[in-house]
Amino acid sequence: MIEQISAARAEAENRIARTIDLADLKSLDQEILGKKGTLGALKSGMAQLTSIEEKKLVGQALNEAFVAVRSALDERLHQLATGELDERIQREALDLSESFSSPVRGRAHIVTQAWQRLEDVFIGMGFQIAEGPEVETDWHNFEALNMPPSHPARSMHDTFYVDHGQPGSTVLRTHTSPVQIRVMHSTKPPIYQVMPGRVFRNETTDSTHLAVFHQIEGLVIDKGITLADLAGTIDAFTKAFFGSEFGSRLRPSYFPFTEPSAEFDIRTPDGSWLELGGCGMVHPNVLLAGGIDPEEWSGFAFGFGIDRMAKERHGVSDVREMYTNDIRFIEQF
Ligand code: DAH
Repeated sequence: MIEQISAARAEAENRIARTIDLADLKSLDQEILGKKGTLGALKSGMAQLTSIEEKKLVGQALNEAFVAVRSALDERLHQLATGELDERIQREALDLSESFSSPVRGRAHIVTQAWQRLEDVFIGMGFQIAEGPEVETDWHNFEALNMPPSHPARSMHDTFYVDHGQPGSTVLRTHTSPVQIRVMHSTKPPIYQVMPGRVFRNETTDSTHLAVFHQIEGLVIDKGITLADLAGTIDAFTKAFFGSEFGSRLRPSYFPFTEPSAEFDIRTPDGSWLELGGCGMVHPNVLLAGGIDPEEWSGFAFGFGIDRMAKERHGVSDVREMYTNDIRFIEQF
C-alpha cells in the first residue's frame, strides 16, 4: 500500500505541474484529494488494514502525500493566477512611446522668451514684477487713466466688452496700463515695478497687428522724479536688452495718462530708428486715482509691445506666423 501511495503521489504531482488552466487545476484537486480521488480512495482503504503497525506507517505516508499534494496545488494556483495577470497586462498594455524613437525636447515660444528676458533685464535694473487681471473694470482700464467716457479708445470698435455687471463696466483690458492703478493701490511708494501681460483689442489682424498680444508696462513713483530719469531709464534698458551699440530717443506725443508724453524709439547699429512704445510723466489725475498725493510724489510710466520685440529680434515678417503653431516655424527658434 505504501507503494501505491507513493505512485499516486508522484502521478498527482506530475499532473499538477502540467496543468496550465485554473479551472483544470480546480477539478484536479477533487480528482486527487476528493473521497473518490486517487489519494482520497486510498485513505478509505485504510479501514481494511488490521495491523496497528501497518496502520501507523500507511497513515503517516498518506498524511505526507496529502500535505505535499496540497502545497503543490497551492503553488501551481499562485503561478497560474499571477501568470494570467501578467498575460493580461501584456495584452492590454498601451505603448505610449510608440512613435518616439528619440524624444524631442520642447522650447519656450519666442514671445515667452522675450517676456522672460525683459523680466530678467528689469530685475537687474532693480525693478519688481507685478501682474494684473486680463478681464478688467472699465474704471481701471480707462477712467482711472484719465480717459473720460467720450474717449475714442472706448468705442465698441476698439474694445471687447464682457457681459458682466453693469453694461459696459467690464472689458478685456486693452493695455497693461490699468495694472499701474492696481500697483498704486497695493504698494506704498516708492514704486519701481514692471507689469507684463496679455492684452486685447477689437482689431482686424494683419501682418503687424493682432487682436490678442502682449505688453510690458513700467511704473516708477518716487520723490523728485523727472523726465531726465525717464530718458535715462529708457536708454539704460535699451543698452541692457539690445546691446551697447543701440541707442534711444524720445519724441513728443500724447497719451491721456501722462503729461508730458512721448514715443520712444531705439536706434539700431545700422542707424535706422524703430518705434518701440509710449511713455511719459504720470498725470496728476492718475496719481490721484491711485491714491497717491501728486504734491508729494511724481513718477514716470512706459509701455511697449512684447510680440513686436520678438518679431524684430527674429526677423519674422508677419506677426500672425507666431500664432499659427506651424511646427516648421516654431522649430526654428
Ligand atoms: N498703454 C499705451 C498703449 O497701449 C502705451 C503707453 C503709453 C503706456 C504711455 C504707458 C505710457 O505707460 O506712459 O498704447
